[in-house]
Formats: sequence, structure tokens, C-alpha cells
Amino acid sequence: MRQEILEKYYTPEELEKGAHHLGFLWASVANTIPSMFWTMYYLLRHPEAMAAVHDEIDHLLQSTGQKKGSGFSIHLTREQLDNLVYLESCIFEVLRLCSSSCSFRFVEENLTINSESGAYCVRKGDAVIIFPAALHKDPEVFEAPEKFKYDRFVEHGEKKTVFYKRGKKLKYYLMPFGCGASKCPGRFFSLIEMKGLLVALLTYFDFEIIDDKPVGLNYNRSLLGILHPDSDVSFRYKVKS
Ligand code: HEM
Ligand SMILES: *[C@@H]1O[C@H](CO)[C@@H](O)[C@H](O)[C@H]1NC(C)=O
Ligand SMILES: *[C@@H]1O[C@H](CO)[C@@H](O)[C@H](O)[C@H]1NC(C)=O
Repeated sequence: MRQEILEKYYTPEELEKGAHHLGFLWASVANTIPSMFWTMYYLLRHPEAMAAVHDEIDHLLQSTGQKKGSGFSIHLTREQLDNLVYLESCIFEVLRLCSSSCSFRFVEENLTINSESGAYCVRKGDAVIIFPAALHKDPEVFEAPEKFKYDRFVEHGEKKTVFYKRGKKLKYYLMPFGCGASKCPGRFFSLIEMKGLLVALLTYFDFEIIDDKPVGLNYNRSLLGILHPDSDVSFRYKVKS
């Protein structure tokens, strides 16, 4: 379908078609991979998070009559993956802590943006960059924002979707996928993809980080997406018996 659409707008010899394909390929993997890495990393560093996620997965497997271990394959529906609220909360916590994406927009007509800190007049032709990491690290919205809290996005066993700043309920509190018309169209797919892979890894293998030195964020990719770690992490794994 993409090929057909591109053929409508470009002649066969135009290089932009390849650039589009490469852009899509990049978008479809570049952020999911580091998000996956950080979720495994934080789970391994936070035993209480790992225990909660294991509990949740075990409960789901039991309630759907499935066995785990080598020789058994697991089948989960999208809805079942969607309902893994602790696993999702861990992924959201990773996106909150490690995302450095921005939304970049060109202003098409003179516009006044009203906000609590005042009115901003932007002119046609200006560029506006929205940087959600500032919101993600705001201590008035997220208590102890530098801390990984595995259940930050869970309340009474369900997804927590209400966050406040100075008593006002926020319309946007987590924006790792951007906003508006250009909001990431891969956001549902990437969550399901990560959850599926995490369930598989956690039910078939035991993982253990070998060295204890903490890993930080490398800011080389600032504004471009999920940040990478600033060093390698050695780990060992074995098939669960
Ligand atoms: C954890 C994973 C991902 C993250 C954090 C992420 C994040 C983002 C962000 C921040 C944007 C820019 C939104 C804006 O301008 O406001 C974006 C755009 C986009 N993403 Fe993702 N993304 C992820 C996974 C994916 C996947 C799996 C795909 C495709 C299979 C994908 C395809 C795209 C495309 C095509 C755009 C451009 C949309 C447009 O400009 O209209 N993304 N993504
Ligand atoms: C937009 O704003 C600029 C700067 O204030 C002004 O010069 C211009 O005439 C405005 N354009 C329109 C279409 O109102
Ligand atoms: C980050 O960028 C700097 C300069 O481009 C480079 O020297 C360094 O190796 C990069 N670090 C990583 C971890 O990619």
C-alpha cells in the first residue's frame, strides 16, 4: 500500500521514495528496541516490579488454562495483552524516564497559544518544538520523578489515567508518542509487540545482570526518541527448567 501511495506522488527515478521507506523502517524499530531494552533492564533491577509482573502473567496463564515452560507455546489475544496493567505500567515508566522525543511543527498561520504561564504569539513560518520530557520529569505531576516506580500507572488494580498538576486534572500527562495529527501511528502495535516479547522472555528464561555498576542514559539521541544506555550491560540467561 505504501508503495502504491508513493508511486502516486513520485516518479520512479525520484530518490525521496527510498528516503520514505528508510524513514518508515527507522520509525518502526528505532524506538521500540531501546524501550524493550530499558523495560528488561528496570525489571531486572527492581525485584518488586519483576515479582508483580510475574504474578500478573502467571495469573493470566492460569486463567486461560495455559502451561508455561519449554515445550509449551503460549497464545494470548490482543485484549489479554492489553489487560496486563503492571507490565504496561513498567513500559510507561520506561517511556516516561527514557523518552527524549519532541514534536516538531511548522506554523501555518499566525496563532496565539494560551497557557498558564502566559500567551505565546507564533507567526506563520515559525517552527515550534514541543518537548514532553519536561512534563515527564515534573515533580508536581510525578512524585520523585527520577525514580522508577513500577506501579505508577496502576490504581486499584486498573490502569491509572488521572494525573494532576496544582489540583488541575491533566489532559496530557504522558506523551512519548507525540501529539495531534502526527501522533505516532505505531503506538498500539509497539506496545503489543513489547508486551508479547516480554511475556515470552519472562516465561521461558531466567535472566540475571552480572555486573552491578549502574547504567545511565546517553544523550546522543536527545530530541530524537528513546535514549540509549551509556554502556553495555552484561547478563546471563538460562532456559527455565
Ligand atoms: C516505543 C516505540 C515508539 C515510540 C516511543 C515512538 C515515538 C514516536 C514519536 C514521538 C513520533 C512523532 C510524533 C509527533 O510528531 O508528535 C512518532 C512518529 C511516527 N512513528 Fe513512532 N514510535 C514508536 C514505535 C513506532 C512503530 C512500531 C512504528 C511503525 C510500525 C512507528 C511509526 C511511526 C511513524 C510512521 C511516525 C510518523 C507519523 C507522522 O508524522 O504522521 N512508530 N513515533
Ligand atoms: C502575522 O504576524 C506578522 C508578525 O506579527 C505580521 O507581520 C503579519 O502581517 C501577520 N500575517 C497575517 C496573515 O496576519
Ligand atoms: C555519542 O556521540 C559522540 C560524538 O558523536 C561519540 O563520540 C560517542 O561514541 C557516542 N556515544 C555513543 C554511546 O554512541
